[in-house]
Amino acid sequence: MTSVKPNDPRTDTEGERLVNAATRLLGRRITLCVSGSIAAYKACELARLLVKLGAKVNVALTRSATQFVGAATFSGITGNPVSIEMFEDAAVGESHITLSTQSDLLVIAPATADLLARLATGRADNLVTACALCARCPIIVAPAMHPSMWEHPATQRNIEQLRVDGRVKIVGPARGEVASGDVGLGRLEEPEIILHHVVAALSPQDLKMRHVVVSAGPTLEDMDPVRFLGNRSSGKMGFALAQCAAQRGARVTLVAGPTHLPTPPDVTRVDVRSALSMRSALWEALGSKLDGADVLIMAAAVSDFRSSEIQTEKLKRNPNTKIPQLAMNPDILAEIGAERRGSVPLLIGFAVETNSDALIASARSKLSSKHVDLVVANLAEKAFGLDENHVTLVTKAGESKLGVDSKSNLASRILDWAVASLGDAR
Ligand code: CTP
Repeated sequence: MTSVKPNDPRTDTEGERLVNAATRLLGRRITLCVSGSIAAYKACELARLLVKLGAKVNVALTRSATQFVGAATFSGITGNPVSIEMFEDAAVGESHITLSTQSDLLVIAPATADLLARLATGRADNLVTACALCARCPIIVAPAMHPSMWEHPATQRNIEQLRVDGRVKIVGPARGEVASGDVGLGRLEEPEIILHHVVAALSPQDLKMRHVVVSAGPTLEDMDPVRFLGNRSSGKMGFALAQCAAQRGARVTLVAGPTHLPTPPDVTRVDVRSALSMRSALWEALGSKLDGADVLIMAAAVSDFRSSEIQTEKLKRNPNTKIPQLAMNPDILAEIGAERRGSVPLLIGFAVETNSDALIASARSKLSSKHVDLVVANLAEKAFGLDENHVTLVTKAGESKLGVDSKSNLASRILDWAVASLGDAR
């Protein structure tokens, strides 16, 4: 059997320990239940993602699921034996009781129309339905079936019943092409989306009733219809912050410069292009009195300069071309900091530098010049475009080095700071 070690400490290029490479689900016990749908193959990817985030994953298959994907695949991915029968191992006893009582969360993906019917009527005729009936932990159900089966009043009645019972969270199905080639509502949600809901279900809901506004990505400043000034920001840090805040229960508005990143679930995204359009979108989200949000996190790499004029025709390369001058963009965060009265919203800025010697001093000067509560200091070469970052939190009270970590873990730790500060402000 393959041995899976998702949490091996790694090192970055300078030999520093990459701590907590995969901790969002570290030590959490998750039972992944799979029923007999063609989409069962996607459950393999879900199992891999859960393991990658540190979860201890056990898999329970219905008999029909084994027609689509084998137990060996899941035991290979999870490093744990797979259960199919309720009373298969005398040493373990009743598998459904053991699995459900020892799990922090059950995720049923894919859940067929038949399985939904059995869950809705409280049947316990196989390992998966018995686990669901027995479990007192959160249960996520991700349906997958042909769109005609999903639309059928019987399925809709079953889904409604499950919603009314309030014991499970339904994720999906998604709209798109199903195995038969037909298009409609019925596809299993993508594994990354199901994973988001798993993490949310196991996260503290300490940002509930809070509105968190996050800016992310670069801004692009047009010069003419084909050229622009931009920067190398990928948006990954800001998107990780938005996703993590949503997982912790916040209402999240993400003001995003141009990036190809998908919108995290449960996040309201406002797409912008230039610094000026980002500024308008942020004021809209915060309200003119800045009373529309609890927290603003400016993770965007806002361009400090724009072309003084935007040509309507492509600039031609000839000696007579008047090369446009640059104009200074407003400093959005400084403007908001200057306008804020009291401590709402909590203001978190970033400081990006290319010179490591100047990093902390620059962050500290931004802390006071922009009137913000926290500056997250990072170096461009260790941040831009990467899945990991190396940051130091700088506040009036001092500095805290978070070291090298995944952007998702760092987002969680920045939000820990925000939650503690919001508590202080009450
Ligand atoms: N920022 C902003 N508006 C700008 C420039 C930056 O709101 N026109 C915000 C960024 O989103 C970030 C913080 O200010 O949270 C610091 O950005 P950074 O690029 O590190 O520094 P600058 O303020 O642009 O200053 P400098 O380039 O001189 O270091």
